[in-house]
Amino acid sequence: MNSKITGLGICFPERCLTNSDLEKMVETSNEWIVQRTGIEKRYVCGEATFASDLASAASIDAIRAAGLDPLDIDMIIVATATPDMATPSTACMVQNGIGAREAAAVDVNAACTGFIYALSMADCYIKCGMFKNVLVVGVETLSKIVDWTNRATCVLFGDGAGAAVVSATEEVGIMQTALHADGKAGDNITIGNLRDGEYIIAKGGATQSSKLWMDGSEVFKFAVRVMTDATREVLDKQGFTFDDISLIVPHQANIRIIEGAVKRMKIPGDKVHVNIQKYGNISSASIPVALFEAVNEGKIKKGDNVVLVGFGGGLTYGAVLLQY
Ligand code: ACO
Repeated sequence: MNSKITGLGICFPERCLTNSDLEKMVETSNEWIVQRTGIEKRYVCGEATFASDLASAASIDAIRAAGLDPLDIDMIIVATATPDMATPSTACMVQNGIGAREAAAVDVNAACTGFIYALSMADCYIKCGMFKNVLVVGVETLSKIVDWTNRATCVLFGDGAGAAVVSATEEVGIMQTALHADGKAGDNITIGNLRDGEYIIAKGGATQSSKLWMDGSEVFKFAVRVMTDATREVLDKQGFTFDDISLIVPHQANIRIIEGAVKRMKIPGDKVHVNIQKYGNISSASIPVALFEAVNEGKIKKGDNVVLVGFGGGLTYGAVLLQY
């Protein structure tokens, strides 16, 4: 038995924050943000909107696109670093919100690599015969935990959700997965919770411990290296080269990280999907949203081989090689 993505959906909050809006909030410029990151705008939630709201809307669309009913879903895995609450999990809220009464539900947190981890879990559940239809969601409301006075981070992040239905099939689907973590380097990206103070201060620089803090240049170097390594790993495992794949869909954190990885992989730039200009870094939602768009723009067709690759807080990284 194989597993395959059979439906995709996305959801964004209505409020759009442009670089010129940010110019009025912190000392920055549209020129700096575009040149250093590639980001032109991002979407942010209102006070009363949370991860479960965005995730539920994206999930309904993904389930419809797969030709299924919420009652057909056996398991819901929500990847998020910004859940509505510690418990109940966002996955349980989605289960209730969309009426997927038969589904088990759990959250996973691997920051921006969350969707890759969740997708590989869905693949395992299906391949071992436990479930037939697994809903995998990447969702973030980073606007709620960004320090809006820190120009080094607040210009980077946005909110959004991407959902995928993964179903059992005899067709070729998910072929290889690679998952990694480097906990030693965890203090490079932190969002404080019960434990904040000393863990964050060890790296130096946190002003509001419950807010997101990041050593951008350390993460930058890590990202360029591991994106290349994880992509090569899944290709090598399958005996593939870059010529065997149609498109790489990477986590969208910074256009210069993607360009650095393209250079390291020695592949043409048009083999990599980029949409960071529209949404900024939406962490675990980034890869499913980019995949949804690449499919809808006709850049990925049925039967194409695609690599999804991510990196982020933890630090974590990983990749999935699949046939769409
Ligand atoms: N506007 C204007 N100037 C700025 C801004 C801003 N928004 N932010 C920083 N600067 C200034 C700095 O103060 C610095 O000024 P100085 O030279 O006078 O000290 C200068 O610009 C350069 O700053 P750097 O931090 O060196 O800029 P860099 O080119 O490294 O870009 C960035 C910073 C965009 C954060 C980059 O390092 C990056 O993208 N890192 C990776 C982030 C990432 O991938 N995160 C993913 C994981 S997130 C998660 O998992 C939730």
